[in-house]
Amino acid sequence: MCGIVACIGTRPAAPLLVEGLRRLEYRGYDSAGVGLLRDGKIETRKRAGRIDALAALLAERPISGTVGISHTRWATHGPPTDMNSHPHLDATGKIAVVHNGVIENHAAIRRDLEARGETFVSDTDTEALARLLGQLYAEAGAHGEAAFLEALRRALRRVSGAYGLAILCADCPDAVFGARKGSPLIVGIGREEHFLASDVNAIVAHTREVAYLADGDLAVVRAHDFEALRMDDREATVAVSRVEHDAAAAEKGDFPHFMLKEIFEQPHTLRNALRGRLNPEDATSVLGGLNMTAAELRGVERIQMAACGTSWHAGLLGEMLIEEFARIPCEVDYASEFRYRNPPFGRNTLFLAITQSGETADTLAALREAKRKGARVLGICNVVGSSIAREAGGGLYLHAGPEIGVASTKAFTSQVTALALLALYLGRLHHLSALEGARLIRDLENLPGQIEEVLAQSERIRAIAQRFRGAASVLFLGRRFNYPVALEGALKLKEISYIHAEGYPAAEMKHGPIALVDERTPSVFLCPRDGMYEKTLNNLEEVRARRGPVIAVATEGDREIAHKAEAVIPIPAAPDHFAPLLANVALQLFAYHAAVALGRDVDKPRNLAKSVTVE
Ligand code: AGP
Repeated sequence: MCGIVACIGTRPAAPLLVEGLRRLEYRGYDSAGVGLLRDGKIETRKRAGRIDALAALLAERPISGTVGISHTRWATHGPPTDMNSHPHLDATGKIAVVHNGVIENHAAIRRDLEARGETFVSDTDTEALARLLGQLYAEAGAHGEAAFLEALRRALRRVSGAYGLAILCADCPDAVFGARKGSPLIVGIGREEHFLASDVNAIVAHTREVAYLADGDLAVVRAHDFEALRMDDREATVAVSRVEHDAAAAEKGDFPHFMLKEIFEQPHTLRNALRGRLNPEDATSVLGGLNMTAAELRGVERIQMAACGTSWHAGLLGEMLIEEFARIPCEVDYASEFRYRNPPFGRNTLFLAITQSGETADTLAALREAKRKGARVLGICNVVGSSIAREAGGGLYLHAGPEIGVASTKAFTSQVTALALLALYLGRLHHLSALEGARLIRDLENLPGQIEEVLAQSERIRAIAQRFRGAASVLFLGRRFNYPVALEGALKLKEISYIHAEGYPAAEMKHGPIALVDERTPSVFLCPRDGMYEKTLNNLEEVRARRGPVIAVATEGDREIAHKAEAVIPIPAAPDHFAPLLANVALQLFAYHAAVALGRDVDKPRNLAKSVTVE
C-alpha cells in the first residue's frame, strides 16, 4: 500500500509533505516524491529509496510553493526507480497525479494512448491514468476547475481497479483534487489549510478534524474549505469527525522502534479494548457497535470469518474461543481463499472481517462477497473510518491506537480480546452460565497485568534470541489454543528477521515435519501448564531425541521443563484459553530481539508494507 499526502494553504508545502510522508513511510517505502504548483507551473522531485533520499534531493534542489501533493510507494507495477516514483505527469506537464491502488486496465489505456502518439516514461499503471486525464482535459476545449472535474469524471469512468488519488492541475492553482475508490482517502480540515491523506497519521499533527471520503467520492480541496462531490455530479455527504489519537500516539517516543513500543503498549491497549465492554452484574460483555439486536445474535447458527496474516491467526484463536464458550460452529478462512472458495452460506451465518488496517484488499473483497450472499457482516477493526469498518456497518473497534510497525503486535492481542468478548456475549445468550461468564470476565481483567509480567522478561528473551539468531530455520509448535500462536510466532520471526520459520500443531510433527529436526534447527514449544501439557511434552521429547534444540515457553515455576529445554521463557499461570496470549507477547519479543541482533530494519522489513491494499 502506498502513502499519499497533499496540502494547500499558506505554509511552505514541501516540508509539510515530507513530514507527512515520514509518518506514512510504514505503508510503503520503495520510493517517494513531491509535486508543487506555483505560478501556473508544476515542479516535481522524486527519488527511489526511503524518504531521506527525497529529503536530500529537496535540500539540494528545493522547490517552493504552498500547494502540493506527495507519495511514498510500495511498488506494484515497475521496480522502485526514480522514474517510476510518483507524481506522474500528463503529456503537457500541467497535471500531476499521486495514486494508491492499482489501475487494472492500465495496459489497454496505455496501448490506446501510445497509438495516439503518447510516449510513456515509466512502467507504472499510474502514468496511464495521468496521461488519460491530460488527453481528456485537452479535449475539453475549456480550462479551469469545471472542465478539469469533467475530464476527471470521464477518466475515472474509463479505469477499472482501485484508487486513492491526489491531483494537481496547473490551471487550478487554488485547488487540490482527490478521488477515492477502494483505497482510503481522507480530507484534513485545518484553519487556513486543508489536506488530503491516505491515513490520518500523516496529518494528525496539524488537525484532528477529518472527513472520510467514500468510494465514488471526488473532492476539491482549497485552503479554507473543501467540496465533496459524487461521480454523477451530486454533492457527496461526508461527516466531519475527530481523530481519537494525537500525533504523539503515532511517534516512537523513547523506544528504538515502533514495534517495541507497540509490544510494550499492550497492557494499555488491552485495557482500552475492554473498557466499557464488561458487565460483571450480568456476567456478559457490552458490545455497543454491533448494530445487531440480542435476538438477531441469538439466531446466529454459524460464524464465518475471513482475514489475512496475523489477523488470520487471531481469527483462528477466536474461532476456538467462540466454539469453546458460545458453542457456535465457527470457521476462519484466508480472505484471499474465501472469496473464491464459494462456501455455502446458511441463512443464519454471521460473517466477521478481522483486520487491523481496515484496508486489506483481500479482506475487503471477502466482506463484499459475504454481503452479496446475504450474510450479516461485522468488522473487527482498528482504524476508525476505514473501508472495512465503513462497509461492515457494525462491529468492534480495537481502540489500540495507530499500529505503525509493519509487524502487527498489539492488534493481534486486541483482536483476540474482541473475539473473546464476542464469544462471552454469544455464550451468555445461550447456555453459558453466569458463573462461567463471571470467570471469563475475571480471566480477561487479569490479562493486562499478566502481560506486564511477560514484558518484564524482555532482557531474558533478548539473550535467548541472540543465542539462536544464527539459526537458518526455526519450528514453532503448540497444541489447541497454543497452535494459532505457534503460527503467529513463526510469522513474526520470519517477517522481521528473515529467518525461515514454520508453525505447526505440535502433534503434527510426527507426520513429516520432524524430518526437519537436527541440532541446527531450534524448536520453540508453547507448553504452558494446560490440559495439553503432558501430550506437548511428549512431542518435545521426540524433538530432543533427535538432538533438536528446544526453547520452551512455559508456566513460571515449572521445574520439569527446565531439564528438557536449552532455554525457558516463563509466563504467568493463566487459563488454557488465554495463556497463549501471554506466550504470544514472549514470541513477539523473541522475534524483535532476533531481528535487532541481525541488524534488520524492524519497523520496515524488506518487501513488506503495513497494509496490503492490492490483491
Ligand atoms: C502481520 O505482522 C503482517 N504485517 C500482515 O500479515 C498483516 O497482519 C496482514 O497483512 C493483515 O493486515 P490487516 O490486519 O491490516 O488486514
